[in-house]
Amino acid sequence: MTPPHLPPARLAELLDALVEQGWYHGEGFLPEALHAPLYAEIEAMAAREALAAAGVGRGTEHHLRRDIRGDAIRWFNRESLAQRRYLEAMDELQQALNQALFLGLFEYEAHFARYPPDAFYRRHLDSFRGRANRVISTVGYLNPDWPADGGGEMVIYDAETPERELTRVRPEAGTFVCFLSDRVPHEVLPTRYPRDSIAGWFRRNASLGGRVDPSR
Ligand code: OGA
Ligand code: MN
Repeated sequence: MTPPHLPPARLAELLDALVEQGWYHGEGFLPEALHAPLYAEIEAMAAREALAAAGVGRGTEHHLRRDIRGDAIRWFNRESLAQRRYLEAMDELQQALNQALFLGLFEYEAHFARYPPDAFYRRHLDSFRGRANRVISTVGYLNPDWPADGGGEMVIYDAETPERELTRVRPEAGTFVCFLSDRVPHEVLPTRYPRDSIAGWFRRNASLGGRVDPSR
């Protein structure tokens, strides 16, 4: 038996928060053994320019919109031990979510994201009702010792009153956030320094007529 990747007490805290309010924000949630190697990996990717400007929308409606989001991304492809370990941790989370909330989650997709100085991501939802195959969004943060003046906070807003701010997340290594993808408006404020995270989504199979819904 391999030991669990996520502390069970923190997992329980996450499930309670998701049930009660639809979102969770936990500092020091990810063990250093998970986030430190991912930080090394994204730094190396940035150095060899292996990250690509992120777009908005899926499939043929995918466009570059720097006025909406300014991050550069690279999808996980399991090429490193760091990625595989993180995916194992998310698999633990997926099982806990399915047991506690009967969500029927069957798949997880994730990408590295780097916001260069001045980049932001305007307020948005991660999926839309009716096409809600992204069910739960996750973000894990990677920058150790994020400076007090660094900006780049992720703001979570109230689902009913989107002007109402509920929490502000400093993008500090080990912090983890998750929320209902089609309910919780959120945004990334402009950052002053390169800001690194792993964004991921648990999906339900929204297949129609035998065609599995494409993830991107
Ligand atoms: C996203 C997103 C938030 C963050 O990629 O959809 O909202 O803090 N990311 O990186
Ligand atoms: Mn988002």
